[in-house]
Amino acid sequence: MHDSVMRRMAAGAALLAWTMLATAQDFGDTPYVQTPQVVVDAMLETAKVSKNDYVIDLGSGDGRMVITAAKKIGTRGFGVDLDKRLVALANNNARKAGVADRAKFYARDLFETDLSPASVITIYLLPEVNLMARAKLLALAPGTRIVSHDYGIGDWLPDREFEMDAPGKPVGRSQKSKVLFWVVPDKVAGRWVWPVMVGGQKQQVELALKQNFQKLEATAKLDGRTVVVDEAKLTGRQVDLTLTLPELGKVAFSGLRINQALEGEMRVAGKPAPWSAVRVEILDPDHVTAPPPVIREFH
Ligand SMILES: C[S@@+](CC[C@H](N)C(=O)[O-])C[C@H]1O[C@@H](n2cnc3c(N)ncnc32)[C@H](O)[C@@H]1O
Repeated sequence: MHDSVMRRMAAGAALLAWTMLATAQDFGDTPYVQTPQVVVDAMLETAKVSKNDYVIDLGSGDGRMVITAAKKIGTRGFGVDLDKRLVALANNNARKAGVADRAKFYARDLFETDLSPASVITIYLLPEVNLMARAKLLALAPGTRIVSHDYGIGDWLPDREFEMDAPGKPVGRSQKSKVLFWVVPDKVAGRWVWPVMVGGQKQQVELALKQNFQKLEATAKLDGRTVVVDEAKLTGRQVDLTLTLPELGKVAFSGLRINQALEGEMRVAGKPAPWSAVRVEILDPDHVTAPPPVIREFH
């Protein structure tokens, strides 16, 4: 069967199962569950949405996510939904809110939507649907932020997650919601080298980075001798490292990947200096080489 038909069936069946369990509102063929306004506000705040962002809401319902961003923050964006009536409602809501020029809604399958204009993606979809969309989300420009209501994206753990009160939530008894946040990671796995001056002598740092999603595992050597890696963090294209080096103590390196270089600054005893490293061996991150996730089927 065609891939997109399978996806539609799984997504449709998942939503149906959800709706059978929940007290969802039904706008016709495709039922949906609204995110309470207080959670919409928290999601936009968590993703630090600004006027300069471009928000895409996958499964946009009545349009509240993109409309709130447009009205409160001045952000531009669009939403897509399979349900044409919801799309009409969302466009009408955007007009009523006076933001129809900045917030647009299209009747479109999220899996057939070009997400490349997005700097922020918002989702309130079932975990299986999130998992189906994972490859598409990971292929976004590094640094793109993703914020989800209630559900994760399989073993791609969020950078941040919290629970909040959600009065008026139409599903569940707890009247609580989870907000989950990710930054699409760059691919930085491999071997990086750069020079440092230690005791007046130029020595070479060699850093080996393994990567699984945004998590880095780092080992480092200085002129062949192992040194302690105190921190190795990846946020989009930004790499932050702290190494304990002989004579220098803890040295912080932070930079952005540009092609096969990391360009930024280092800090020795709080004093900044330019820093640049070169990748001498490129490796695929583990999440790239791992077999695709198993998506539970719905019957
Ligand atoms: C739980 S509702 C969320 C609505 C809105 N984003 C909100 O948070 O209030 C999920 C929405 O996703 C839509 N949807 C489900 N699968 C979709 C797909 N493959 N493409 C586009 N929309 C989809 C449904 O029609 C539904 O309106």
